[in-house]
Amino acid sequence: MKQRLAIYPGSFDPATNGHMTIIHRALRLFDHVVVAVARNGLKNPLFTMDERQELLKEALKGVPRVEVDSFEGLLVDYVRRRKANAVIRGLRAVSDFEYEFQMANANRKLDPNFEAVFLMTGEDYFYISSQMVREVASLGGDVSGLVPTCVQRELLKKFPRKEG
Ligand code: PNS
Repeated sequence: MKQRLAIYPGSFDPATNGHMTIIHRALRLFDHVVVAVARNGLKNPLFTMDERQELLKEALKGVPRVEVDSFEGLLVDYVRRRKANAVIRGLRAVSDFEYEFQMANANRKLDPNFEAVFLMTGEDYFYISSQMVREVASLGGDVSGLVPTCVQRELLKKFPRKEG
């Protein structure tokens, strides 16, 4: 039987627990999931490409049927190259919808075979974003429960918390 492959693209600066649940849910729908870090996405990322990929690999260690990769250029070209069946995107709130709708339609214009599957983020994680995590950590806040423990460890290295 033909294996069904999904690409989960993003900036992952850094990966959050919201991303992790989307990956686990995508694994229920697809045989194989490739988490693909976009190389030309962010202007001033907090984590380098290597760091973002390594953290995803560490957070997903032991999880079968997942691969961490990166891509440069257009997402549609990468999807075609990998012969993927669909792209996964998480939808948190109405505010995500406009951007995702625009992106899905632009991608389908670029490649009529492009298909995206949107998974709605559960109530536990709908408020988490990488940007929010970066801000909380940079201001000395506690991000435990919001990100995988390896991400928390690396955030603490970048933004040591002051005692007292
Ligand atoms: O995690 P993000 O930042 O929301 O992910 C956005 C991402 C990387 C999926 C998007 O910017 C993307 O697909 N970039 C690759 C370049 C591309 O194909 N651009 C055209 C999309 S309309």
